[in-house]
Amino acid sequence: MKKIVILVCLLLTVIACKKEQQSTNTLEAKVSELLEKMSLDEKLGQLNLRGTSSRVKGKLSDSLKQAVRDGKIGAFLNVSNTAFVDELQRIAVEESPNKIPLIFARDVIHGYKTLFPIPLGMAASWDAKIAENSSRVAAIEAASFGIRWTFAPMLDIARDSRWGRIAESPGEDPFLASKLSEAYVKGFQGDSLNDPTSLIACAKHFVGYGAAIGGRDYNTVSMNEALLHNVYLPSFKSAVAAGTQTFMTAFNEMNGIPASGDKKMLTEILRHDYGFDGFVVSDWDSVEEMIAHGFAVDDKHAAEISLNAGLNMEMNSKTFEMHAKKLLQEGSITEATIDALVAEILRVKLRMGLFENPYRVDNSDNLYAAAHLQLAKEAVVKSSVLLKNDQNILPLASETNIAVIGPLADKPREQLGTWSFDGDGKYTKTPILAFETENVNYNFVEGLSYSRDKSTQDFSKAVAAAKQADVILFIGGEEAILSGEAHSRAEINLPGAQEQLIKELAKTGKPIVLIIMAGRPITVGNILNDVDAILMTWHPGTMGGPAIHDMIFGKAEPCGRLPVTWPKVAGQSPIYYNHKTTGRPVIPEEFVQMDSIPIGAWQSSLGNTTHYLDIGYLPQYPFGYGLSYTSFEYSNLTLSSNTISENNDITLKVTVKNTGKRTGSDIAQLYVQDVVGRITRPAKELKGYQPVTLKPNEATELTFTLSLEALKYYDNDVVFDVEKGDFNIWVGQNSAAGLMTTIKYE
Ligand code: BGC
Repeated sequence: MKKIVILVCLLLTVIACKKEQQSTNTLEAKVSELLEKMSLDEKLGQLNLRGTSSRVKGKLSDSLKQAVRDGKIGAFLNVSNTAFVDELQRIAVEESPNKIPLIFARDVIHGYKTLFPIPLGMAASWDAKIAENSSRVAAIEAASFGIRWTFAPMLDIARDSRWGRIAESPGEDPFLASKLSEAYVKGFQGDSLNDPTSLIACAKHFVGYGAAIGGRDYNTVSMNEALLHNVYLPSFKSAVAAGTQTFMTAFNEMNGIPASGDKKMLTEILRHDYGFDGFVVSDWDSVEEMIAHGFAVDDKHAAEISLNAGLNMEMNSKTFEMHAKKLLQEGSITEATIDALVAEILRVKLRMGLFENPYRVDNSDNLYAAAHLQLAKEAVVKSSVLLKNDQNILPLASETNIAVIGPLADKPREQLGTWSFDGDGKYTKTPILAFETENVNYNFVEGLSYSRDKSTQDFSKAVAAAKQADVILFIGGEEAILSGEAHSRAEINLPGAQEQLIKELAKTGKPIVLIIMAGRPITVGNILNDVDAILMTWHPGTMGGPAIHDMIFGKAEPCGRLPVTWPKVAGQSPIYYNHKTTGRPVIPEEFVQMDSIPIGAWQSSLGNTTHYLDIGYLPQYPFGYGLSYTSFEYSNLTLSSNTISENNDITLKVTVKNTGKRTGSDIAQLYVQDVVGRITRPAKELKGYQPVTLKPNEATELTFTLSLEALKYYDNDVVFDVEKGDFNIWVGQNSAAGLMTTIKYE
């Protein structure tokens, strides 16, 4: 019987493989058939992504329509008028020489109409399922407008909170980012690429963009091979494994080569090593920008470099359109190169089913659907991080008399965050709207009218309101425009006079709960002692208000854990938990704070370790940190074996107990340190995590599995291996805590 079952299984696998092979053959045959029929102009047209700025609506010009009719455009970005989408697609599939459909692209980053928390917030959920579901919702809503290609997920590891685009990132950790990467790709692309609600995903920005010097956007990146492969590439590799159909190059140069001209990355690594068979689009004008980088002499040279590097489609700038023919005539590029680039685009268009179903399916009934809003609210709860909660001031009792103060308590557009131009502010539920709906006992005085406001004129009104209340709820942070692309900041504390206002409010002696809405960690050192609780909601999106209401009153518990290290001051950046130990690791007992140095002290290397004299060596809050409304105790860390080998995974068990008075959730985190390596190894690396929800006094045993594969790493010769020796292991609540044990690979 057993044998028969095995045989049947084998047979079914063979049939499935054959079918897959047949459909690949058919697909490739169709690609070749099309290529044979296409003129050179039409082929080059496929490489052309025509963009318009997100704000320009304009008119459909005759010349644009003619370009589509002639097959000179392969895809469009930001066509926000559905009548234009329909008309352009009609011309492409009815009037162009080979009736090749267009793809319409848009930056659908954290939702389309229903906006979810910004990606950094979603990362704080550590919840791949909600990331997947949120991108599915985004796809359904966007597809209704004819959009079938999103420029997401953004997968740049970010270790510097000054960088404005940290808001769009999955945070600082490659393990977490890889889980999210896979989830986003699955959510956008759905079960089948040819479903009319599937959006092809675009893994961006390839690669190293988050390592820009000093957190300054577009800046230079220096990267060694080990860092690239161990930290910056895994999230992209995981997107390929999840089936992403497209990639976008980055603006930056890495080790002297601008990303849009980097043949090693685009061809050797992406195509050959990772097996990616979709297509790569440049970032906006990034081909042309190779001139400013000092890498290309002129537009023609830029086109030559990018085409030969393996860049399929040019966004906005027109160097391919203007110069590819000439480059072919001169022999600087070959027709085989062009054919290969076009084939990759056609393959994706065929997979999307656009030849059979080129038109959008109007499912606009789904916009802001109740289920979408519900999911968006759940996402805020899952991504909000409780950073401080002295005397368990949160949650508040329902009858508490609250003074709501602050510039972001009732700003429908600001709470949507970066990349929210499709979200309609009138659907946004602000905290004030939610409090009104829920009959909260509150009094609202804004105090400052926007986050950068420096005027103190309304301070007295705010203080007067505070005096009448039991608790002050200060809702501040950063307006949406202060993070995102080109919005790096050198100081990352609360902007404007927010700190000043908080200090005035603190003088009333009333407890202060600070709710931060922002696109990055905000340094809170100046006001930390003035506030009793801090809840980070990032830019929470459409449903921020109701979620904040529920968290404040304990109908829900904030579940987020930091996906980035939270600095004390901007000057600590870049700061990240998986740093190297250095030859002089910190010895806490030996740290000498600057103010303790005697005046006129003898020249000496005080403390002798890697730290700052003024603020020391610790961040404000470590990676993985977040409080609950209850408390947890971790105990009994046990191992199935003290040794690990190729065929012997280790099982770790740990008991987690809810020691508080409320049901609550935690995320148990597993970290490893490879004590000695063939190159130096990080102080800690996340290798696993598990959410856990427990009733008061309830305990459970969690199991983690660790394989030797998970311990392997790349060195600077790009060899993926691990050597024998000791490994420290921690299981606990964040990257700076946990029970510790040691294993050996022998
Ligand atoms: C950004 C990309 C974005 C593109 C199109 C660029 O400025 O870097 O992330 O997808 O614009 O809007």
